[in-house]
Amino acid sequence: MMIPWKDAYDIGIEKIDCQHRQLLVKLNEFMDACNNRQGAEKIEETLKFLKDYTLEHFGSEEEVMEDIHFPELADHRKEHAQFVKTVLELEESVKAKGTSVLTTIKLNRMLTDWLINHISKCDKLIAAYMNQQKGTA
Ligand SMILES: [Fe+2]
Repeated sequence: MMIPWKDAYDIGIEKIDCQHRQLLVKLNEFMDACNNRQGAEKIEETLKFLKDYTLEHFGSEEEVMEDIHFPELADHRKEHAQFVKTVLELEESVKAKGTSVLTTIKLNRMLTDWLINHISKCDKLIAAYMNQQKGTA
């Protein structure tokens, strides 16, 4: 049950696409662990990865958005902040109560959702705007 990378996920900015692929690799690793009933063990590692990953990746994306004066930068930044907040909340909950099927499902859903709704939609707007700017320059 691997999610393969689709062309539709590519936004067309190489550095960002590479980072997105990295995330899909982690998501697949996590789902694989879940299917082997090792999701709970994998949760902490995945959350730790996400903390470093989001710092670097959202930093890169926000840099690109600043460079091109992306009009929806503030809203996009908010979505990133919300994602980081959810990661930290999950981490807190795991620390306090340990892992459970529910946290496993939550993380799974959150990552899948991010791929489908944020990467495929919101991030794409960045590249679209970039190309539009190039076209009018
Ligand atoms: Fe983004």
